Amino acid sequence: MSTLELHGVHAGYGKAQVLHDVSLRVGDGSITTLLGANGAGKTTTLRAVSGLVRFTGQILLDGRQVPAAPDAVARLGVAHVPQGRGTIGRLSVDDNLHAGALLRRDRAQVRADLRRLRELFPVLAERARSQAAGLSGGEQQMLAIARALMGRPSLLLLDEPSLGLAPLVTKEVFVLLPRLRDEWALTVLVVEQNADLALRVADHAVVLESGRVALAGTAAEIAGHDEIRRAYLGN
Ligand SMILES: Nc1ncnc2c1ncn2[C@@H]1O[C@H](COP(=O)(O)OP(=O)(O)OP(=O)(O)O)[C@@H](O)[C@H]1O
Ligand SMILES: [Mg+2]
Repeated sequence: MSTLELHGVHAGYGKAQVLHDVSLRVGDGSITTLLGANGAGKTTTLRAVSGLVRFTGQILLDGRQVPAAPDAVARLGVAHVPQGRGTIGRLSVDDNLHAGALLRRDRAQVRADLRRLRELFPVLAERARSQAAGLSGGEQQMLAIARALMGRPSLLLLDEPSLGLAPLVTKEVFVLLPRLRDEWALTVLVVEQNADLALRVADHAVVLESGRVALAGTAAEIAGHDEIRRAYLGN
């Protein structure tokens, strides 16, 4: 588990400024959801944390500045499951899982984690030698999450895990999050467009609007305001 803080973060692509003075806090052991319309800057926020986008301002993990290079951020215990899944399609399911543990030296613990993940997601054991590209969308999402967990992160960044999934499968992924948080000692920041579902499992929520924080509060507070939902979440 880890606490993530952003203080006055500005980020963008070349001259295009996308994030404007974004400050937010993801508490130790919490599930926080980052909501907002298409193009609001949700992915850019996760990419700034992961060192994939240059930013100004401060990004702190447990009070310490995160480095600006993706591999150094990963070594600090941050795992990022990108929008569009993040599995290596031509590799087998097993090789994807092993790739998630490349930075680790504790081989016995790696094997134990692999066993736990195969119990949690039986399809990953059944399809161990199949190409990842041949899995269904939901199975690939499970694999992407399992692969991230193989790195034993303390902070899991999930970018729209529901993208392209059937509603029932999406629900399965979300229902799993509190269990993963507890059993793998995680802090979770999950980007989502399906606000209703995300607010049901999250502890806290942050709403981005055009690259600025429009609202932040407990998930119950954000979910409980009809006007807020209509204005910012479109439902
Ligand atoms: N690589 C890039 N180069 C230039 N502009 C980009 C790039 N990636 C994103 N943008 C722009 O930055 C803005 C924010 O994009 P971002 O991907 O962070 O939004 P998002 O909230 O994740 O949206 P979505 O819900 O559609 O995934 C958009 O206007 C987008 O066009
Ligand atoms: Mg996005």
